[in-house]
Amino acid sequence: MKGIILAGGHGTRLHPVTLGMSKQMLPVYDKPMIYYPLSVLMLAGITDIQIISAPQDRASFQRLLGDGSRIGLNLSYAEQDEPRGLAEAFLISSRHIGDDPVALVLGDNIFHGPGFGDLLRQQVRDVDGCVLFGYRVHDPERYGVGELDARGRLLSLEEKPARPRSNLAVTGLYLYDNDVVDIAKNLRPSERGELEITDVNRIYLDRGRARLVPLGRGFVWLDAGTHDALTAAGQYVQILEHRQGVRIACIEEIAWRMGFIDQETCHRLGAELASSPYGRYIVDVVTADA
Ligand code: G1P
Repeated sequence: MKGIILAGGHGTRLHPVTLGMSKQMLPVYDKPMIYYPLSVLMLAGITDIQIISAPQDRASFQRLLGDGSRIGLNLSYAEQDEPRGLAEAFLISSRHIGDDPVALVLGDNIFHGPGFGDLLRQQVRDVDGCVLFGYRVHDPERYGVGELDARGRLLSLEEKPARPRSNLAVTGLYLYDNDVVDIAKNLRPSERGELEITDVNRIYLDRGRARLVPLGRGFVWLDAGTHDALTAAGQYVQILEHRQGVRIACIEEIAWRMGFIDQETCHRLGAELASSPYGRYIVDVVTADA
């Protein structure tokens, strides 16, 4: 399966912070925001990943992550010059996707929860049509909303409904079979002029090929698109990392645990960053658990 991280947009809700840099490059406590969605794809076992950004931000993502080979990934870069909707990602990245299934994750979505890697790998194995992940929120009208029947079958999907049929928000992580490219090609822009991901998902739903997997209450799903949300996400990560002495979304550690790089390489990557607590953590964890 191929991966896409959509890190486009103007980040207008975070102005003036994002006047000079991409939202997905901002720190969520101790690491750039994009590390969080990147680690989701890595935990799913995906190594071939394209990062879509605004043209002016491409160079900074490349400077941060390079071609990915240091952590056993194959990273490529593409541009979305105007935010024309999430579903445009499948058109921009159609060459990257080729004939494969694909996972799309939004660059400002943060997921954390017990057994998340196992859950992801299982869903990636079983993907047939489209797999969405739902999360209970108190303000579903801000999101795509999914409605399940008593047996957990997906009944309806709506984008930012004024009167939501459930509290289940559709999170910014989507798994698709290869049909998604054709579906995206035939999509028409919505009233707000965007190619809507919810329209893609509804086509799968109409074909009886969409599932929504609810993430239980022990999971955390945050988006970091406003000043308050960004601060809250940083505090969440800080509290957990201090309390447990583990780090969330440490891409070098994940690369090592997933078998993308060996212990020695991981140790060296940590040593290169050893002036920071993040780097020292990598050295410690790879030494202790080796
Ligand atoms: C987008 C999707 C929405 C989804 C959300 C998750 O909304 O359109 O369905 O619930 O991402 O973050 P946006 O962030 O573009 O408002």
